[in-house]
Amino acid sequence: MSGLHKLSEFPPDPTLQEAIPVLTRLVREPTFLDSYIPPLVQRAEQAEDWYVAHCDEDEDGSYSLQVFVWPPDSKTQIHDHSSWGAFCCVVGSLSEERYERLDHGRRPDHARLRMLWRRVWRREDGVSTLLPREGGIHRVGNPTGSKAISVHLYGPRTGDVDGRDYDPSRDYVCDRRESDGRTDRSPFARTNGGGT
Ligand SMILES: [Fe+2]
Repeated sequence: MSGLHKLSEFPPDPTLQEAIPVLTRLVREPTFLDSYIPPLVQRAEQAEDWYVAHCDEDEDGSYSLQVFVWPPDSKTQIHDHSSWGAFCCVVGSLSEERYERLDHGRRPDHARLRMLWRRVWRREDGVSTLLPREGGIHRVGNPTGSKAISVHLYGPRTGDVDGRDYDPSRDYVCDRRESDGRTDRSPFARTNGGGT
């Protein structure tokens, strides 16, 4: 989906700081809004869970640009990424919860989380950014009764895994080695099973 990359006009190895203007431009780009978005809005009517509709990655893994479709009431698991990330809502609104770890991280499979904040993102609210690993433990979802669409940009991985998935109901964390094709190369894990 190299067309997305060209529309976004970003440098060869974008940084997290550069991701903000890149996404801000893209969600106002008339070609993107007129060509990419309307078919996704239509298809969102039939979707039962969130999915990645477009994914544009370069060969050396320096970025991954993805378009997510969010039916009503869909949300990811709590997760992090081994890369930095940024996203901007294009259609509708999304909620984001951000967490911190309260444990020291030395016990395998164990993580104790505390929610730091929760907020709603609409297109006019700008770009949400997150750092790799513990710097960006979050959950994204669409709690509204209308569909939502968002654009996400991820930097290069900083480790062997795609990220980690968390289950705070049992203080559990596990590596997510590969995206399952539905995630923002990771991003998110479904609430009903698999990982994003
Ligand atoms: Fe994520």
